[in-house]
Amino acid sequence: MSTLAIETAGLVKTFGDNRAVDGIDLTVRAGTVYGVLGPNGAGKTTAVKMLATLLRPDGGEAHVFGHDVVREADAVRGLVSLTGQYASVDEDLTGLENLILLGRLTGHTKKAARDRAGQLLEAFGLTEAAGRQVKNYSGGMRRRIDIAASILNTPDLLFLDEPTTGLDPRSRNQVWDIVRAVVAHGTTVLLTTQYLDEADQLAARIAVIDKGKVIAEGTKGELKASVGAGSVHVRLREADQREEAARLLGAVLDAQIQLEPDPVALTARVGTDDGALNGRGAAEQASRALAELAHAGITVDNFALGQPSLDEVFLALTGADAGHSVPATDTQKHSQKDSQKEATA
Ligand SMILES: Nc1ncnc2c1ncn2[C@@H]1O[C@H](COP(=O)(O)OP(=O)(O)OP(=O)(O)O)[C@@H](O)[C@H]1O
Ligand SMILES: [Mg+2]
Repeated sequence: MSTLAIETAGLVKTFGDNRAVDGIDLTVRAGTVYGVLGPNGAGKTTAVKMLATLLRPDGGEAHVFGHDVVREADAVRGLVSLTGQYASVDEDLTGLENLILLGRLTGHTKKAARDRAGQLLEAFGLTEAAGRQVKNYSGGMRRRIDIAASILNTPDLLFLDEPTTGLDPRSRNQVWDIVRAVVAHGTTVLLTTQYLDEADQLAARIAVIDKGKVIAEGTKGELKASVGAGSVHVRLREADQREEAARLLGAVLDAQIQLEPDPVALTARVGTDDGALNGRGAAEQASRALAELAHAGITVDNFALGQPSLDEVFLALTGADAGHSVPATDTQKHSQKDSQKEATA
């Protein structure tokens, strides 16, 4: 079997004049978790649907374990499983009934389907809820039954389309553990997410996509390094000293300053161009900045020097906050399409 789980070249999908996926090249090694990170409307679900043979590409090529997704769609279908953003278990059936039904549909004997369902419910912490209708499940339970359903047959490639959107932190952690367990069994996972920390937690490599295009690709470390040397995070004792602290830090570090939602916190993002925050230079600059703040009578409670977060990576790459819409000027068309989609969905 090919060691590449996914290989695409110039993959395109258009809806009218909207190029939802606009020439995407991806290479995903078998046995890994690959993260596709992007905001609403970036084209994540559309790309996944083409790879899962649910949508036909309008251009380019895609292979799954060496099989062409159009010409060898049946072979591809035999290898993949998709947990959709809007998942497909039957609301009126219980968790147990859903898993047994899906097991029977995919060729298990009655006994095998029942055994497998029991195992999965146990593994996913759903034994108690096995006899309850899925429509009465909480969001987290629902997401777990969706994933359980999609790994009934241990696929070679599992697509997880925003598996934790809307979940509380505890449920997100449970889903992450499940993903890790699935990968440990040899399944390749393509995970789409709007959450930078999720890609950071799970994925070996990440493609950042925006408006149908890959705008960055690499390991987490590479992505972070491509954006900047790092950030200086500062927490002050007094909120009313923040403005002055921002001015001073901006000057000393020659950095862009971001005021955090927390009124005593601010972050200085330092670019690589001048190498300002590299190696020994970083520590020196940081201590100089601290000294300046002390000199100005500004009390610092906490001071940290860090690699950029993926959130900062996204901000730097797109000029927009991750997961939120990008400035109206260049994406108006995009967001109108999005609201149309929502209105007609
Ligand atoms: N069936 C469709 N018909 C018309 N336009 C579509 C269709 N599906 C998606 N689009 C458009 O394609 C673009 C990409 O949508 P897609 O659902 O792939 O984004 P996404 O990255 O999955 O976003 P989200 O994070 O909100 O799920 C959007 O502009 C969307 O409105
Ligand atoms: Mg989507």
